[in-house]
This record gives sequence, structure tokens and C-alpha cells, in this order.
Amino acid sequence: MRKFEIGVRRSILGVLLLAAASAAFPLDAPLKPDPAAFAARRQKFMAMLPPKSIAILRSAPVRVMTNDVDYPYRQDNDFYYLTGIAEDDVTAVLRPDAPDGKKYVLFLRPRDLRREAWAGVRVGPDEAVAAYGADAAFALKDFETKMAEFDRNTYKMSGYLIGPEKLYLSDGHDTAWTTEFDKNYQQMRSHDEGPAAVVDARGLIHEMRLIKDAEDLRFLRRAAEISAQGHVRAMQAVAPEKWEFEVQAALDGWCYANGARRMAYPSIDGSGPNTCILHYEDSTRQAKDGELFLNDSGAEYGMYATDITRTYPVNGRFSPEQKAIYEIVLEAQKKAMAIVKPGIPHDEIEKTAALAQAEGLVKLGLLQGDPATLVKGMGHRKLTLHGVSHWVGLDVHDQCPYRGADGKSRVLEPGMVFTIEPGIYIPANTPGVDPKWWNIGVRIEDTVLVTKDGSDCLSCAAPRDVADVEKTVQSGKNRIAAQ
Ligand code: GLY
Ligand code: MN
Ligand code: MN
Repeated sequence: MRKFEIGVRRSILGVLLLAAASAAFPLDAPLKPDPAAFAARRQKFMAMLPPKSIAILRSAPVRVMTNDVDYPYRQDNDFYYLTGIAEDDVTAVLRPDAPDGKKYVLFLRPRDLRREAWAGVRVGPDEAVAAYGADAAFALKDFETKMAEFDRNTYKMSGYLIGPEKLYLSDGHDTAWTTEFDKNYQQMRSHDEGPAAVVDARGLIHEMRLIKDAEDLRFLRRAAEISAQGHVRAMQAVAPEKWEFEVQAALDGWCYANGARRMAYPSIDGSGPNTCILHYEDSTRQAKDGELFLNDSGAEYGMYATDITRTYPVNGRFSPEQKAIYEIVLEAQKKAMAIVKPGIPHDEIEKTAALAQAEGLVKLGLLQGDPATLVKGMGHRKLTLHGVSHWVGLDVHDQCPYRGADGKSRVLEPGMVFTIEPGIYIPANTPGVDPKWWNIGVRIEDTVLVTKDGSDCLSCAAPRDVADVEKTVQSGKNRIAAQ
């Protein structure tokens, strides 16, 4: 909720109050990334590298959308995590051994004022040291000669990439750059030169990203906060005969109006039968009286994702069947959330939610058998379809192994952030299921942080309990009726 609303207009007092309000409520001010946080991450990353190693990180490429339009540019998350740089065509080098103190070196495109008149101002090699906290910065075309110079100084060897024994590479999925880089590298190796080992740096970066630092959390909290507020707006926007895109606009629009520059993934706004399609993205159907509406939407704020789902009755009242399914899913989510604390294996969340859902479905006669046996054989997945938890961070599905090499689940630690998202889906014509249950799809999803002694649900400000959900949907209808 915005904490302050201004009613005073056209008066000096009003202007003064406005100034005071914006100073007193920094909550609404856009968050700015903290350069010190990126410097600390680089230091930590370099400390993990073995002696005689070097890391090269590449930005994401620009991607073509149509004949004359590119997709809005979005930086590669691993590159961003260590550099804080949002622009394209940048190569970053980390040199933990650097005797000259130039541990963080950037290679960028030189500025081009004519191009900038169309595409906006860039940071060039001359500005990059001050703007990005680099120790040195050069033009991209000088990459090989400058790197050779560094190697000469560091390892007393002459030549590009001659000296370091291990190269940690994160290519930003820039295939054109990687092809060129690889060609040069293979040529070096054919002369027995260059680092003998190339390691995918992303494994290390993903391990770092798994435990959120204070900077991560500032942005993750804001992403969850504005998205939860957006879910309230969406609940208030739904009504019989409303189009799915109208509900989507209420939520996504709220996020954009509060500083999100993108949604974290294509918003899922499904009514009736579409509640049973996990990644339904069309938003083109008209919701009907008596149906459910499933809304899986989260903002991306300052590059950070959130992932939230709410399900609600289009007319403001759950039918008995909808309510029965909803309460199973809600109880499963609450039970799973209640066990979250450091030391718990991550897969206990899945086990807890799965068992609760299986028990509920057996009780309703929608699944047959012993719930624990069903879960063991994945029998519950007939109606629950998917797992209930994934890491969240810069990626909506942050990449990091959920199990160790021994096959055992990773144990929860403070700073981990993940979803808890049980769901039950009963599409029309589900074999052996009474038609009264058809087209009921329910998912309840929140983004949760592991704290020192438990958990903090970042998105639970969005109503979840039956009475709160119904009240919120009805409050929108009342508002519309009163207009
Ligand atoms: N929004 C995609 C997911 O829930 O994983
Ligand atoms: Mn999810
Ligand atoms: Mn989701």
C-alpha cells in the first residue's frame, strides 16, 4: 500500500506537504544498485579462484525480435551479479594474481556520439573506471594486446593468455563472441599455449548467488512487495465477463507504475479451463461467472525476480468444490512453509506439500490409496503435476543444484530464497473424475527467505486465506458497482 495520499491541491501548503511527503517516504523512491556490493562480490569470487587463474566474463548479446526491432536489452545475470553493468558489448576480466593492482579490467565499445543520438548514452573506456569501479578500462579492439601486456607483467611470459593455467569463463550466451574467442583459444592450444583448463565460471557464481547478500535482498523484497500489491489490484479487477488481459493489466500495470521495468516472466492470467494450463500466457479469454481465475505473476525489479501465484473466484465466492481444492492447496503450502528453517533439507518442502495434497485428494475421493504410498510412487502428480519449490533471485528459476554429488538434498541456509508453490489441476475430461471438479486449477505460490531461525515470506502480503481472498475480490466489485 502507498503510505500516503495527498488531497491538498493548489495551495502553498499542498506543495510543502508534497515535498515533505516525498522526503519522508523513501519506500516509493526507486532503489539504486550499490557499487560497493558488486565490488565485494568480485573480491569474494576472486578469493575462490586457485592460483594462476583468470576469469573472463562476457555481457549478454542484443537479440533480434523483428526485421527492425531488437528485444529490449537485458543483461546476463551472472555478468550483472559481479559487475552491476547493464549495457551490452562488454568483456570483464578478473585477475586475482595481478601484481599491478589491476584486478578488474573492462573492455568496452568506444563511445560514438552519432549512435548515442539514437540508442542513448553509453559508458566508454574513458569513463568506465569511474562509472563501474574498474581498475582499468580499454576499447574492445585492444583486448588481445592489453591481455598480452598484463600476462607479461604478471607471469613474465609473452603473449595473449600465456601464463594463467586456469581460465574461468562465463560467456553471457553471446555465441558470436564465444565462437571468435574459442577460435583463438584453439589456435593457442594447438601450439600448447594458453590456459590448459577452461572452467565454466557459472557454477561458482551460482553458488554465490544461492545465498543472498543484503543487496540481493533489498531488491528481492521490493520486487515481492510491489507484486503482492499488484495481486490485490488484480483480485479487485476480476469479475464475470472481464477479459484475462484486463486482470493482467491491473497487476502488471501496478508493477510498472512502481518501478518495475519488466515482469520476471510472462504473466499467467488464466480463467476457467485456462487455470489448468501451467504456463498459459495468452490472456485472451473472457472470465465467466462461477469460474476460478489463476494469476501467476511477479515483477522484475532492478533485475531481481519474484514469483507469486494467487487463485480466486471470478464472482467473489468459491463454489464448494473450488473451496475444497483451494483449502487443500493452502494447507499444503502452510505446512511446507512452517518447516522452513536452517538445517532442513530442501526436499522436505516438496515431501511435506506432496503428502498434504495427497491426503486431501484421497479424502475427497479424487485419488485412491494410501497418501504416503501415492507420494512415493509419484501417484499424486496425476493431479498436482509439478514440484513445489525452486530457487529465486536474478533468475526466476535461479540455477543451482538442488542435490549434492551424493544425491542428497541441499540443506537450507540463511539467505536462500525459493518458492513454495503447491497446486492441483483438474482439466475437463480428467478420466474417472466427476465433472463437478472439472476446470478447477488452483496454485498458491509465494517467495520465501530462509532467516537465521526460520523464514520470512516476502510475498505473503497478497491475501491467501479463503475469507481474505473473497473479501478482496468483492471489494473490487463493490468499488465498480459504486462508480
Ligand atoms: N512462474 C513460473 C513458476 O511458477 O515457476
Ligand atoms: Mn515458481
Ligand atoms: Mn510462478
